[in-house]
Amino acid sequence: MRLLSCLQKWPTMTEKIPQNIRHEITRLVKELNEHSYRYYVLDSPVISDAEYDRQYRRLRDLEERYGCVLPDSPTQRVGAPPSERFDKVRHTEPMLSLDNAFAHDEVLEFDKKLRKLLRSDEQIEYTVEPKYDGIAMELTYRDGLLVRASTRGDGYEGEDVTQNIRTIREVPLRIEGALIPREIDIRGEVYMDTDEFEALNRRREKQGEPAFANPRNAAAGSVRQLDSRITSSRRLHLACYGIGSVVGMIFSSQTEFMNWLRTARFPLPARMAVAKGVEHVIDEILKLEHDRDSFPFETDGAVVKVNDFGLQQKLGVKTREPRWAIAYKFQAHQGTTVIREIHGSVGRTGVITPFAVFEPVRIGGVSVSRSTLHNWDEMERKDIRIGDTVVVERAGDVIPHVVTVVKEKRTGRERKFPVPAKCPACGSQVVREQGEVAARCVSLHCPAQLQEKIIHFASRGGMDIEGLGEKNVELLYDKGLIRNFEDIYRLKKNDLLDLPRFAEKSAHNLIQAIENSKRATLARFLFAIGILHVGEYAAKLLARNFRRLEDLFGVQKEDILGIRQIGEKIAASVSAFFSDWKNLQVFESMKKLGLDLANPDFVSAKKGRLPFEGLTVVITGSLPIPRKDAEALIESQGGHAASSVSASTDYLVAGDNAGSKLEKAKKLGVKIITFDTLIKMAENSGAQQRLFS
Ligand code: IVH
Repeated sequence: MRLLSCLQKWPTMTEKIPQNIRHEITRLVKELNEHSYRYYVLDSPVISDAEYDRQYRRLRDLEERYGCVLPDSPTQRVGAPPSERFDKVRHTEPMLSLDNAFAHDEVLEFDKKLRKLLRSDEQIEYTVEPKYDGIAMELTYRDGLLVRASTRGDGYEGEDVTQNIRTIREVPLRIEGALIPREIDIRGEVYMDTDEFEALNRRREKQGEPAFANPRNAAAGSVRQLDSRITSSRRLHLACYGIGSVVGMIFSSQTEFMNWLRTARFPLPARMAVAKGVEHVIDEILKLEHDRDSFPFETDGAVVKVNDFGLQQKLGVKTREPRWAIAYKFQAHQGTTVIREIHGSVGRTGVITPFAVFEPVRIGGVSVSRSTLHNWDEMERKDIRIGDTVVVERAGDVIPHVVTVVKEKRTGRERKFPVPAKCPACGSQVVREQGEVAARCVSLHCPAQLQEKIIHFASRGGMDIEGLGEKNVELLYDKGLIRNFEDIYRLKKNDLLDLPRFAEKSAHNLIQAIENSKRATLARFLFAIGILHVGEYAAKLLARNFRRLEDLFGVQKEDILGIRQIGEKIAASVSAFFSDWKNLQVFESMKKLGLDLANPDFVSAKKGRLPFEGLTVVITGSLPIPRKDAEALIESQGGHAASSVSASTDYLVAGDNAGSKLEKAKKLGVKIITFDTLIKMAENSGAQQRLFS
C-alpha cells in the first residue's frame, strides 16, 4: 500500500472506520514505535521478538482491512518499489564541511585562534565526539513528523532519499517524548557497522557483485538506491550530531540540543564528552583514539565543536567550513610497503578480483602481506602498479587495503596490471560488460569456479549437504571424484572409504546427506545452482511462481519480469541460464540420478486460506476503481499483482478497452476474468467491502 495514497485518504477514511479500530491502529503504531526505539536505540527491549511480530502483523492486518496507514506506521519502513530518480532538495541552511587537524598542535592552534577572534582569555567549552565515516543526512520534521530526508549533495542542494531513510529502524518517524518544534532540520551521519560491511561484501562476492571498498561507500551506495527495498536489507545506522534550521524552538548549546535529541529518541554518537579548555579536548581526543577499535563502526577522527551556540554564531563560517569546529584525524593503522605481484582471483560466479602481494609489513601489530584491490575501477583510479610503494591501512577489523601510491618513489620500472584477457584459473576469455565494474570468466568448466560452486551448492542455505564443506570438496575435487554437480550424486560409499579423511561412519553420513538432498525444495535448488544475481530471496520468488524446474526451461526475460520484485538484471540472468542447453543437460542427468525436487511454496500457496494466495494476477484495461486499489485488493488476499502477462500468470483481469495483454493472455492460455469475478473471488473474506466503504 503506498503511503501517499493512504495519507490522502486518511482524513476522509477515518470517519468510515469504527472508532475502536481507529484507536487500536493508533495505539499499535505508538506501541510498536516505542518497542522499536527500545530495541534499536536503547538496546533494551521489553517484549520478545515474537510478541513484536504478533502486534506488527495485527497492525498490518488492520491497515489492510481498513485501507488506511498512519504516516508514522512501522509498516512503512519496509521499502517501496523502485523510483526513477531522486528529486533535488535545497537545504534551508547549507550543510558545511569541517576543517581538519592532523596533529595536537593544530588543535592548540585552533583554540588559540578562536580566543583571539573572541578577544577573550577565558577557556572555551568544547564538545568532543567520534567522527563517523558515512554519508551526511538532513532529516526534516514538521510538527513532529518526518517529512523529508536529504543527502548533503554540494552542501546547498542534496537529493531526496526519504523512502530509503525511513527503512532505517532507529530513525524516528515521529518525534515523541519531547517538546516538538514547528519545524526542525536534524543532521547526522548514516553509516554501516564494520561487521555488517564485511558480511555485505561476503554476500556480494557470493552473488558475483563487486565488493565495496569501505563502509562509507557501502553506506552511501545503500542510501542512494533507487529501490528502497535494497536499502532496507542493509543494516544502516544513524548518529545525529547537528542542527540545521529550526522554527519554534531555541537551543543555546550543543549539549542542550543533544539532550533534547536524546529525549526525542534520536540515536546519538557513541560518545560525547564536554571539555573545558583545550587541554581537556586533547585528553578526550586521546581517549577516543585509544578506544577507536572497540567501536562497532569505523571512526577516523574526533569532531571538536564550540559548545555555546552564541559563541558559534559570533565566530561564524568561512567559505565552506564553520570556524567553531574542527575534525581531528587519528593516526591511521598504516604502513608503507612495496607491491611484489598483482593477481586476479576467481570467485564462484566467475568474478575476477585483483589482489596485491606485498613485502610483509607490520601494521597495528599484525603482519600484512596481501590485500584485495577490490575491483578494476578502483585499481585504475588509484593507479596501482606492480613495484609501487604503497600506503596500506588497516582500520578496526577491516581487511587491509591500499590507501594510496607513493608516486615520488616511482622509478619508471613499475608495471600496470591490466584486466586479464584470459581467466587466471582456466584460460578462458574474460568478459567485461559495458558499464560493469566486474570482469568475469563465464566458462562452465573453470576449476576455480567449480570448487567454489560446489561448496556453495552443498552449503547450508543451498542443498544443505552436511560433510561437503570446503575441505572435503577440495579433496574430492583433487581426487577427480567431483568435477560437477552431477558427480555429487554419483558418489559411492566405497569411493569415500579409500580417502584419508573418511571412515565408515563419516562416509555413510555423507552419502545419506547427499541422498536426503535429492528431495530438497525447488527454492533451495534454484539458490544452490548459483545463477548469477539470484540470491535466496529471488530463488524463493521464482519457486513461488514456477511449479517445477522444467517450467523454467527456455523461460523468457519478460515472463520473469512479470514477477513483482524481480528486476531486469535477475530476469536476464535467469533467462540466459535456463536457455543454455548445457545447463539443461545437467538438470536432465541430475534427474536421472534421482533428484526429485519438492515445491511446498507452490502447493501450500494453492491450498492457502486467502482467495489469491500464491496466484499471480495481472490487470489490464480500465476498471471501475483505481488500478492501484484493485492491486492492493489482490495483494491483501495473498496474490501477486504483476504488471506483465507470462506463462506463470494465473489470471488476467480484463477491464474495458483491454489491448495487447489480453491478446497475449489468450495466446498463452491464461485464465481471463472480469472485474466482477475478481470481486466475487475476494468475497469470501469480505475484502471488497473495503474498497467501497
Ligand atoms: S558536525 C559544520 N559531527 O564529517 C559541519 N560532523 O568532514 C558540522 N561527520 O559533513 C558537522 N561525524 O558528514 C559533525 N560527529 C560529527 C560527525 C560529522 C561525521 C561528517 C559530516 C560532515 C563531515 C565533515
